[in-house]
Amino acid sequence: MFKITDRVDYVGKIDWQLRTFHGEQLTTNRGSSYNSYLIKDKKNVLIDTVWNPFSKEFIDNLEKAIGLKNIDYVIALHAEPDHSGALPYLMELIPDVPVYCTANGIKSLKGYYHKDWNFVPVKTGDVLDLGDSKITFVEATMLHWPDQLMAYFDKDEILFSSDAFGQHFATEFMYDDAKKIDMSELLFEAIKYYANIVAPYSSRVTQKLEEIKGFNLPVKIVAPSHGVMWRENPNLILEKYAKWADSYKEDQITIIYDTMYGSTRRMAECIAEGIRAVTPETTVKLFHFATADNSDVITEAFRSKAILVGSPTYNSGILSSIAALLEELKGMRLSGKKAAAFGSYGWAPISTKVIAKMLSDANFELMEPDNVKASWNPTEEAIKECVEFGKKFAEFAK
Ligand code: FEO
Repeated sequence: MFKITDRVDYVGKIDWQLRTFHGEQLTTNRGSSYNSYLIKDKKNVLIDTVWNPFSKEFIDNLEKAIGLKNIDYVIALHAEPDHSGALPYLMELIPDVPVYCTANGIKSLKGYYHKDWNFVPVKTGDVLDLGDSKITFVEATMLHWPDQLMAYFDKDEILFSSDAFGQHFATEFMYDDAKKIDMSELLFEAIKYYANIVAPYSSRVTQKLEEIKGFNLPVKIVAPSHGVMWRENPNLILEKYAKWADSYKEDQITIIYDTMYGSTRRMAECIAEGIRAVTPETTVKLFHFATADNSDVITEAFRSKAILVGSPTYNSGILSSIAALLEELKGMRLSGKKAAAFGSYGWAPISTKVIAKMLSDANFELMEPDNVKASWNPTEEAIKECVEFGKKFAEFAK
Protein backbone atom coordinates (compact mmCIF):
# COMPACT_ATOMS: atom_id res chain seq x y z
CA MET A 1 0.00 0.00 0.00
CA PHE A 2 1.22 3.52 -0.72
CA LYS A 3 -0.13 7.02 -0.99
CA ILE A 4 -0.74 8.43 -4.48
CA THR A 5 -2.26 11.75 -3.33
CA ASP A 6 -3.63 12.97 0.02
CA ARG A 7 -6.97 11.42 -0.89
CA VAL A 8 -5.97 8.36 -2.91
CA ASP A 9 -4.07 5.25 -1.79
CA TYR A 10 -2.76 2.36 -3.86
CA VAL A 11 -4.08 -0.85 -2.27
CA GLY A 12 -3.34 -3.31 -5.10
CA LYS A 13 -0.83 -6.13 -5.34
CA ILE A 14 2.44 -6.26 -7.26
CA ASP A 15 2.88 -9.81 -8.56
CA TRP A 16 6.59 -10.38 -9.19
CA GLN A 17 6.13 -14.08 -9.93
CA LEU A 18 3.49 -14.06 -12.66
CA ARG A 19 4.91 -15.47 -15.91
CA THR A 20 1.73 -16.27 -17.87
CA PHE A 21 -1.67 -14.64 -18.05
CA HIS A 22 -5.06 -15.62 -19.50
CA GLY A 23 -4.12 -19.15 -18.51
CA GLU A 24 -1.02 -19.96 -20.55
CA GLN A 25 -1.99 -17.73 -23.47
CA LEU A 26 0.12 -14.64 -22.79
CA THR A 27 3.63 -14.40 -21.38
CA THR A 28 4.26 -11.89 -18.60
CA ASN A 29 8.04 -12.01 -18.36
CA ARG A 30 8.26 -8.99 -16.09
CA GLY A 31 5.42 -9.99 -13.77
CA SER A 32 2.36 -7.76 -13.35
CA SER A 33 0.28 -5.93 -10.80
CA TYR A 34 -3.42 -5.90 -9.96
CA ASN A 35 -4.06 -2.25 -9.23
CA SER A 36 -6.71 -1.36 -6.71
CA TYR A 37 -7.30 2.17 -5.49
CA LEU A 38 -8.88 3.62 -2.37
CA ILE A 39 -10.36 7.14 -2.50
CA LYS A 40 -10.97 8.78 0.88
CA ASP A 41 -13.37 11.72 1.15
CA LYS A 42 -16.60 12.23 3.09
CA LYS A 43 -17.45 8.96 1.38
CA ASN A 44 -14.78 6.31 0.83
CA VAL A 45 -14.57 4.33 -2.39
CA LEU A 46 -12.68 1.20 -3.31
CA ILE A 47 -11.90 0.80 -7.02
CA ASP A 48 -11.41 -2.85 -8.07
CA THR A 49 -9.77 -5.63 -6.04
CA VAL A 50 -7.00 -8.13 -6.87
CA TRP A 51 -6.65 -11.65 -8.25
CA ASN A 52 -8.06 -14.38 -6.05
CA PRO A 53 -4.74 -15.84 -4.68
CA PHE A 54 -4.01 -12.49 -3.02
CA SER A 55 -7.49 -12.00 -1.51
CA LYS A 56 -6.57 -12.49 2.15
CA GLU A 57 -3.56 -10.21 1.98
CA PHE A 58 -5.64 -7.62 0.14
CA ILE A 59 -8.47 -7.63 2.67
CA ASP A 60 -6.06 -7.54 5.64
CA ASN A 61 -4.32 -4.52 4.11
CA LEU A 62 -7.62 -2.81 3.43
CA GLU A 63 -8.68 -3.34 7.03
CA LYS A 64 -5.46 -1.64 8.17
CA ALA A 65 -5.71 1.14 5.60
CA ILE A 66 -9.26 2.26 6.32
CA GLY A 67 -11.28 -0.40 8.16
CA LEU A 68 -13.68 -2.37 6.00
CA LYS A 69 -16.72 -0.88 7.72
CA ASN A 70 -15.66 2.55 6.49
CA ILE A 71 -15.90 1.61 2.81
CA ASP A 72 -19.02 3.31 1.47
CA TYR A 73 -18.89 2.22 -2.16
CA VAL A 74 -17.14 -0.36 -4.29
CA ILE A 75 -16.54 0.31 -7.98
CA ALA A 76 -15.87 -2.71 -10.20
CA LEU A 77 -14.41 -1.25 -13.38
CA HIS A 78 -14.03 -4.73 -14.85
CA ALA A 79 -15.31 -8.20 -13.93
CA GLU A 80 -12.33 -10.25 -15.17
CA PRO A 81 -11.06 -12.31 -12.22
CA ASP A 82 -7.65 -10.63 -12.10
CA HIS A 83 -9.51 -7.58 -10.73
CA SER A 84 -12.65 -9.05 -9.19
CA GLY A 85 -11.06 -12.13 -7.61
CA ALA A 86 -11.13 -10.78 -4.06
CA LEU A 87 -14.65 -9.37 -4.40
CA PRO A 88 -16.53 -12.45 -3.11
CA TYR A 89 -14.41 -12.45 0.05
CA LEU A 90 -14.79 -8.72 0.54
CA MET A 91 -18.55 -8.78 -0.03
CA GLU A 92 -18.94 -11.52 2.58
CA LEU A 93 -17.63 -8.96 5.06
CA ILE A 94 -19.47 -5.87 3.74
CA PRO A 95 -22.55 -7.40 2.05
CA ASP A 96 -24.68 -4.25 1.91
CA VAL A 97 -22.15 -1.90 0.35
CA PRO A 98 -23.24 -0.84 -3.16
CA VAL A 99 -21.17 -2.20 -6.05
CA TYR A 100 -21.05 0.27 -8.96
CA CYS A 101 -20.42 -1.22 -12.40
CA THR A 102 -21.95 -1.31 -15.88
CA ALA A 103 -25.02 -3.39 -16.70
CA ASN A 104 -22.66 -5.79 -18.50
CA GLY A 105 -20.49 -5.82 -15.40
CA ILE A 106 -23.44 -7.04 -13.35
CA LYS A 107 -23.99 -9.87 -15.85
CA SER A 108 -20.32 -10.88 -15.80
CA LEU A 109 -19.93 -10.66 -12.00
CA LYS A 110 -23.11 -12.68 -11.49
CA GLY A 111 -21.83 -15.13 -14.10
CA TYR A 112 -18.58 -15.63 -12.23
CA TYR A 113 -19.63 -15.50 -8.59
CA HIS A 114 -23.37 -16.37 -8.65
CA LYS A 115 -24.11 -13.65 -6.10
CA ASP A 116 -26.67 -10.88 -6.16
CA TRP A 117 -24.75 -8.11 -4.48
CA ASN A 118 -26.14 -4.60 -4.06
CA PHE A 119 -25.36 -3.69 -7.66
CA VAL A 120 -25.79 -0.15 -8.99
CA PRO A 121 -25.57 -0.02 -12.80
CA VAL A 122 -23.86 3.06 -14.24
CA LYS A 123 -23.26 4.47 -17.70
CA THR A 124 -21.25 7.27 -19.28
CA GLY A 125 -21.87 10.60 -17.58
CA ASP A 126 -23.24 9.17 -14.32
CA VAL A 127 -21.72 10.76 -11.24
CA LEU A 128 -20.97 9.41 -7.77
CA ASP A 129 -20.91 12.21 -5.20
CA LEU A 130 -18.31 11.74 -2.47
CA GLY A 131 -19.04 14.95 -0.53
CA ASP A 132 -16.26 17.33 -1.51
CA SER A 133 -15.41 15.53 -4.71
CA LYS A 134 -17.02 13.37 -7.32
CA ILE A 135 -16.39 10.45 -9.63
CA THR A 136 -17.66 10.56 -13.20
CA PHE A 137 -18.09 7.28 -15.04
CA VAL A 138 -17.14 6.63 -18.66
CA GLU A 139 -18.08 3.32 -20.26
CA ALA A 140 -15.21 1.65 -22.10
CA THR A 141 -17.18 -1.11 -23.80
CA MET A 142 -14.96 -3.74 -25.48
CA LEU A 143 -11.69 -2.33 -24.17
CA HIS A 144 -11.38 -5.29 -23.95
CA TRP A 145 -14.59 -6.78 -22.45
CA PRO A 146 -18.20 -5.61 -22.80
CA ASP A 147 -18.35 -4.59 -19.13
CA GLN A 148 -15.34 -2.29 -19.03
CA LEU A 149 -15.70 1.05 -17.25
CA MET A 150 -13.43 4.03 -16.52
CA ALA A 151 -13.81 6.45 -13.61
CA TYR A 152 -12.59 10.04 -13.39
CA PHE A 153 -11.85 11.49 -9.94
CA ASP A 154 -12.23 15.26 -10.30
CA LYS A 155 -10.42 16.48 -7.17
CA ASP A 156 -7.06 14.94 -8.11
CA GLU A 157 -7.70 14.73 -11.86
CA ILE A 158 -7.08 10.97 -12.02
CA LEU A 159 -8.48 8.79 -14.78
CA PHE A 160 -8.86 5.22 -13.52
CA SER A 161 -8.76 3.56 -16.91
CA SER A 162 -9.20 -0.17 -16.16
CA ASP A 163 -7.16 -2.42 -18.51
CA ALA A 164 -6.60 0.29 -21.13
CA PHE A 165 -3.14 1.90 -20.88
CA GLY A 166 -1.92 -0.93 -18.64
CA GLN A 167 1.17 -3.11 -18.80
CA HIS A 168 2.17 -6.42 -17.28
CA PHE A 169 5.12 -4.86 -15.51
CA ALA A 170 6.05 -5.46 -11.88
CA THR A 171 8.08 -2.62 -10.42
CA GLU A 172 8.66 -1.18 -6.95
CA PHE A 173 8.23 2.32 -8.35
CA MET A 174 4.75 2.48 -9.85
CA TYR A 175 5.06 5.60 -12.01
CA ASP A 176 6.42 6.41 -15.48
CA ASP A 177 9.50 8.19 -14.17
CA ALA A 178 12.55 7.62 -16.40
CA LYS A 179 14.85 8.26 -13.43
CA LYS A 180 13.38 5.31 -11.54
CA ILE A 181 12.39 2.80 -14.19
CA ASP A 182 13.65 1.73 -17.60
CA MET A 183 11.32 3.48 -20.05
CA SER A 184 12.21 1.16 -22.93
CA GLU A 185 11.13 -1.83 -20.81
CA LEU A 186 7.94 -0.01 -19.81
CA LEU A 187 7.04 0.97 -23.37
CA PHE A 188 7.78 -2.55 -24.64
CA GLU A 189 5.40 -3.98 -22.03
CA ALA A 190 2.79 -1.33 -22.92
CA ILE A 191 2.87 -2.16 -26.65
CA LYS A 192 3.00 -5.91 -25.89
CA TYR A 193 -0.13 -5.45 -23.80
CA TYR A 194 -1.79 -3.49 -26.60
CA ALA A 195 -0.80 -5.97 -29.32
CA ASN A 196 -1.87 -9.06 -27.40
CA ILE A 197 -4.97 -7.78 -25.60
CA VAL A 198 -6.31 -4.53 -27.02
CA ALA A 199 -5.46 -4.68 -30.77
CA PRO A 200 -8.67 -6.44 -31.88
CA TYR A 201 -10.60 -3.44 -30.55
CA SER A 202 -8.52 -0.69 -32.13
CA SER A 203 -11.53 1.05 -33.73
CA ARG A 204 -13.08 1.32 -30.24
CA VAL A 205 -9.82 2.76 -28.91
CA THR A 206 -9.91 5.54 -31.50
CA GLN A 207 -13.54 6.36 -30.67
CA LYS A 208 -12.89 6.30 -26.92
CA LEU A 209 -9.84 8.57 -27.14
CA GLU A 210 -11.90 11.10 -29.12
CA GLU A 211 -14.69 10.85 -26.56
CA ILE A 212 -12.31 11.38 -23.64
CA LYS A 213 -10.73 14.35 -25.45
CA GLY A 214 -14.25 15.76 -26.01
CA PHE A 215 -14.94 15.82 -22.26
CA ASN A 216 -12.13 18.37 -21.85
CA LEU A 217 -11.25 16.93 -18.48
CA PRO A 218 -7.77 17.73 -17.17
CA VAL A 219 -5.91 14.48 -16.51
CA LYS A 220 -2.90 14.56 -14.17
CA ILE A 221 -2.64 10.81 -13.72
CA VAL A 222 -3.77 7.91 -15.89
CA ALA A 223 -4.16 5.02 -13.46
CA PRO A 224 -4.65 1.67 -15.23
CA SER A 225 -5.47 -1.69 -13.67
CA HIS A 226 -2.03 -3.18 -14.40
CA GLY A 227 1.46 -1.75 -14.12
CA VAL A 228 2.64 1.81 -13.63
CA MET A 229 0.55 4.95 -13.43
CA TRP A 230 1.27 7.57 -16.09
CA ARG A 231 1.98 10.66 -13.98
CA GLU A 232 5.12 12.28 -15.42
CA ASN A 233 3.59 12.43 -18.87
CA PRO A 234 0.01 11.14 -18.96
CA ASN A 235 -0.32 12.26 -22.58
CA LEU A 236 2.43 9.89 -23.68
CA ILE A 237 0.33 6.75 -23.34
CA LEU A 238 -2.76 8.47 -24.78
CA GLU A 239 -0.70 9.48 -27.83
CA LYS A 240 0.79 5.98 -28.12
CA TYR A 241 -2.69 4.42 -28.05
CA ALA A 242 -3.86 6.83 -30.77
CA LYS A 243 -0.95 5.68 -32.97
CA TRP A 244 -1.25 1.97 -32.15
CA ALA A 245 -4.98 2.04 -32.93
CA ASP A 246 -4.41 3.60 -36.36
CA SER A 247 -2.99 0.78 -38.57
CA TYR A 248 0.30 1.06 -36.69
CA LYS A 249 3.53 0.09 -38.41
CA GLU A 250 7.24 0.66 -38.05
CA ASP A 251 9.87 0.14 -40.73
CA GLN A 252 10.20 -3.51 -39.76
CA ILE A 253 9.67 -6.83 -41.52
CA THR A 254 9.24 -9.88 -39.31
CA ILE A 255 9.85 -13.39 -40.63
CA ILE A 256 8.17 -16.10 -38.60
CA TYR A 257 8.69 -19.76 -39.40
CA ASP A 258 8.73 -23.30 -38.11
CA THR A 259 11.02 -25.98 -39.48
CA MET A 260 11.65 -29.72 -39.14
CA TYR A 261 15.11 -30.30 -40.67
CA GLY A 262 16.21 -26.71 -41.31
CA SER A 263 15.01 -26.25 -44.92
CA THR A 264 12.34 -23.66 -44.10
CA ARG A 265 14.79 -21.95 -41.68
CA ARG A 266 17.33 -21.70 -44.50
CA MET A 267 14.66 -20.18 -46.75
CA ALA A 268 13.82 -17.61 -44.02
CA GLU A 269 17.47 -16.59 -43.77
CA CYS A 270 17.83 -16.21 -47.53
CA ILE A 271 14.63 -14.16 -47.80
CA ALA A 272 16.04 -11.90 -45.05
CA GLU A 273 19.24 -11.51 -47.08
CA GLY A 274 17.19 -10.38 -50.07
CA ILE A 275 15.28 -7.82 -47.98
CA ARG A 276 18.51 -6.41 -46.52
CA ALA A 277 19.97 -6.02 -50.02
CA VAL A 278 17.10 -3.77 -51.12
CA THR A 279 16.15 -1.90 -47.92
CA PRO A 280 19.11 -2.07 -45.52
CA GLU A 281 17.43 0.55 -43.32
CA THR A 282 14.49 -1.79 -42.59
CA THR A 283 14.69 -3.76 -39.36
CA VAL A 284 14.42 -7.46 -40.18
CA LYS A 285 13.70 -9.97 -37.39
CA LEU A 286 13.44 -13.75 -37.63
CA PHE A 287 11.63 -15.99 -35.17
CA HIS A 288 11.32 -19.75 -34.89
CA PHE A 289 7.76 -19.66 -33.57
CA ALA A 290 7.81 -23.11 -31.99
CA THR A 291 10.56 -22.07 -29.56
CA ALA A 292 10.21 -18.27 -29.40
CA ASP A 293 8.15 -16.37 -26.84
CA ASN A 294 4.91 -16.31 -28.81
CA SER A 295 3.50 -13.17 -27.16
CA ASP A 296 6.71 -11.27 -27.92
CA VAL A 297 6.56 -12.45 -31.55
CA ILE A 298 2.95 -11.27 -31.82
CA THR A 299 4.19 -7.90 -30.54
CA GLU A 300 6.88 -7.82 -33.25
CA ALA A 301 4.30 -8.71 -35.91
CA PHE A 302 2.10 -5.87 -34.63
CA ARG A 303 5.00 -3.40 -34.98
CA SER A 304 5.85 -4.55 -38.51
CA LYS A 305 4.82 -3.07 -41.83
CA ALA A 306 4.96 -6.58 -43.30
CA ILE A 307 5.46 -10.19 -42.26
CA LEU A 308 6.53 -13.42 -43.92
CA VAL A 309 5.23 -16.70 -42.55
CA GLY A 310 6.84 -20.06 -43.32
CA SER A 311 6.18 -23.72 -42.64
CA PRO A 312 7.09 -26.96 -44.32
CA THR A 313 4.21 -29.01 -45.65
CA TYR A 314 3.15 -31.41 -42.91
CA ASN A 315 0.28 -33.91 -43.14
CA SER A 316 -1.10 -32.05 -46.18
CA GLY A 317 -1.13 -28.84 -44.16
CA ILE A 318 1.20 -26.79 -41.96
CA LEU A 319 2.98 -27.28 -38.65
CA SER A 320 0.73 -26.64 -35.68
CA SER A 321 2.81 -23.78 -34.26
CA ILE A 322 2.27 -21.79 -37.47
CA ALA A 323 -1.44 -22.66 -37.48
CA ALA A 324 -1.63 -21.22 -33.96
CA LEU A 325 0.22 -18.08 -35.06
CA LEU A 326 -2.15 -17.51 -37.99
CA GLU A 327 -5.20 -18.04 -35.79
CA GLU A 328 -3.84 -15.45 -33.35
CA LEU A 329 -3.10 -12.96 -36.16
CA LYS A 330 -6.64 -13.38 -37.51
CA GLY A 331 -8.11 -12.57 -34.11
CA MET A 332 -6.09 -9.35 -33.89
CA ARG A 333 -7.98 -7.82 -36.85
CA LEU A 334 -4.94 -5.90 -38.03
CA SER A 335 -5.08 -3.52 -40.96
CA GLY A 336 -2.61 -1.99 -43.41
CA LYS A 337 -0.04 -4.81 -43.22
CA LYS A 338 1.50 -6.79 -46.07
CA ALA A 339 2.53 -10.44 -46.15
CA ALA A 340 3.68 -13.49 -48.07
CA ALA A 341 4.25 -17.19 -47.40
CA PHE A 342 7.17 -19.55 -47.83
CA GLY A 343 8.02 -23.13 -47.01
CA SER A 344 9.68 -26.37 -47.99
CA TYR A 345 7.99 -29.60 -48.97
CA GLY A 346 8.82 -33.18 -49.87
CA TRP A 347 6.26 -34.50 -52.30
CA ALA A 348 3.32 -32.08 -52.10
CA PRO A 349 3.75 -28.26 -52.08
CA ILE A 350 0.73 -27.44 -49.92
CA SER A 351 1.91 -25.39 -46.93
CA THR A 352 2.39 -22.07 -48.73
CA LYS A 353 -1.13 -22.20 -50.19
CA VAL A 354 -2.57 -22.81 -46.74
CA ILE A 355 -0.52 -20.00 -45.18
CA ALA A 356 -1.34 -17.51 -47.96
CA LYS A 357 -5.06 -18.23 -47.60
CA MET A 358 -4.91 -17.80 -43.82
CA LEU A 359 -2.94 -14.55 -44.14
CA SER A 360 -5.52 -13.24 -46.58
CA ASP A 361 -8.32 -14.25 -44.18
CA ALA A 362 -6.44 -12.36 -41.46
CA ASN A 363 -6.68 -9.16 -43.56
CA PHE A 364 -3.05 -9.03 -44.77
CA GLU A 365 -2.38 -7.69 -48.27
CA LEU A 366 -0.56 -10.46 -50.13
CA MET A 367 2.27 -9.96 -52.62
CA GLU A 368 1.91 -11.53 -56.07
CA PRO A 369 3.21 -14.27 -56.30
CA ASP A 370 2.14 -14.78 -52.72
CA ASN A 371 4.67 -17.49 -51.87
CA VAL A 372 7.98 -19.17 -52.54
CA LYS A 373 8.58 -22.87 -52.02
CA ALA A 374 11.50 -25.28 -52.17
CA SER A 375 11.53 -29.07 -52.31
CA TRP A 376 13.47 -31.21 -49.83
CA ASN A 377 16.77 -29.54 -48.98
CA PRO A 378 16.91 -26.28 -51.01
CA THR A 379 19.28 -26.37 -53.97
CA GLU A 380 21.56 -23.44 -54.85
CA GLU A 381 18.92 -22.45 -57.40
CA ALA A 382 16.16 -22.54 -54.78
CA ILE A 383 18.32 -20.46 -52.45
CA LYS A 384 18.75 -17.82 -55.15
CA GLU A 385 15.00 -17.86 -55.70
CA CYS A 386 14.45 -17.15 -51.98
CA VAL A 387 16.90 -14.22 -52.07
CA GLU A 388 15.10 -12.82 -55.12
CA PHE A 389 11.75 -13.34 -53.39
CA GLY A 390 13.11 -11.36 -50.42
CA LYS A 391 14.20 -8.54 -52.73
CA LYS A 392 10.80 -8.41 -54.37
CA PHE A 393 9.10 -8.48 -50.98
CA ALA A 394 11.22 -5.57 -49.76
CA GLU A 395 10.03 -3.51 -52.74
CA PHE A 396 6.43 -4.58 -52.12
CA ALA A 397 6.65 -3.63 -48.43
CA LYS A 398 8.08 -0.14 -49.10
FE1 FEO B 1 -6.79 -7.09 -16.34
FE2 FEO B 1 -9.26 -7.73 -18.56
O1 FEO B 1 -8.36 -7.89 -16.93
